[in-house]
Amino acid sequence: MFNLKNTVSVVIGGNGVLGSAMAAALAEAGSKVAIVGRNMEKAGLVCGEIERGGGSAIPVQADATKKEELESALNKVLEWGGRIDTLVNASGTNSPTPFFELEMEEWDRIMDVNLKSVVLASQVFGKRMIEQGGGGSIINISSVSSEPPLSRVFTYSASKAGVNSVTQFLAREFAPHHVRVNAIIPGFFPAEQNKKILSPDRIESIMRHTPMNRFGTPEELKGTVVYLASPKASSFVTGALLRVDGGFGAMTI
Ligand SMILES: NC(=O)c1ccc[n+]([C@@H]2O[C@H](COP(=O)([O-])OP(=O)(O)OC[C@H]3O[C@@H](n4cnc5c(N)ncnc54)[C@H](O)[C@@H]3O)[C@@H](O)[C@H]2O)c1
Repeated sequence: MFNLKNTVSVVIGGNGVLGSAMAAALAEAGSKVAIVGRNMEKAGLVCGEIERGGGSAIPVQADATKKEELESALNKVLEWGGRIDTLVNASGTNSPTPFFELEMEEWDRIMDVNLKSVVLASQVFGKRMIEQGGGGSIINISSVSSEPPLSRVFTYSASKAGVNSVTQFLAREFAPHHVRVNAIIPGFFPAEQNKKILSPDRIESIMRHTPMNRFGTPEELKGTVVYLASPKASSFVTGALLRVDGGFGAMTI
């Protein structure tokens, strides 16, 4: 049910903290994995780790906000693997700039990395999945900040609300082509993009609102990503926004 042998996965942002764990999970389930990112050195390290574990991986350079770079990444992955079965959109950035100090350059940068990238990758890789036939799975990485928005991270929250909307829109559009589109809503996992934001008072308030009273570890996303990638395990699942958050989304007073 969770076997991904003879499939090819693309993880955009696969050299990040959560992206690399999810890429490893897909490889452990038998998928060949392309690690797409801007930094080839980091992508190479993630691929080396996967190959040491017995998997097959290739680093592919692309800025996720540039369509032409994603198109050339698609061609490289096809030369290597011949098809695309799973796309994980895991690039991301964040900033705690107060609302009245926010400059539109920063708004554009965060929106581009978190939301435009999902749209572009769905156009480039999603089109290929539809054209090749046989179905596929797109997994977007949203956030608990998508609904309702967290304090302090205004642009990030708006971008992730957009990710939920794009996920459900494309789930409807792509369903007739047997391409499923879902999102994972992770709670709090210490990573690169949020280390500036995780101040001691912020950590305290996160813990107060997380019934499990701890951060997640990247490994705790592995089962969910394999489940959503597997055409058997999640064959009737599309348009879902799946929480992996230690209960954060179920919390009230
Ligand atoms: N860590 C958390 O608590 C958490 C919670 C909810 C959602 N998320 C989401 O998970 C995803 C992964 O983030 P992470 O926490 O692992 O952080 P991370 O900073 O470790 O990873 C983000 C990755 O995105 C890449 N990236 C940034 N801009 C890019 C671009 N233009 N083109 C290609 N790649 C680009 C970075 O190089 C990095 O590898 C993000 O979408 C983030 O918003 C994280």
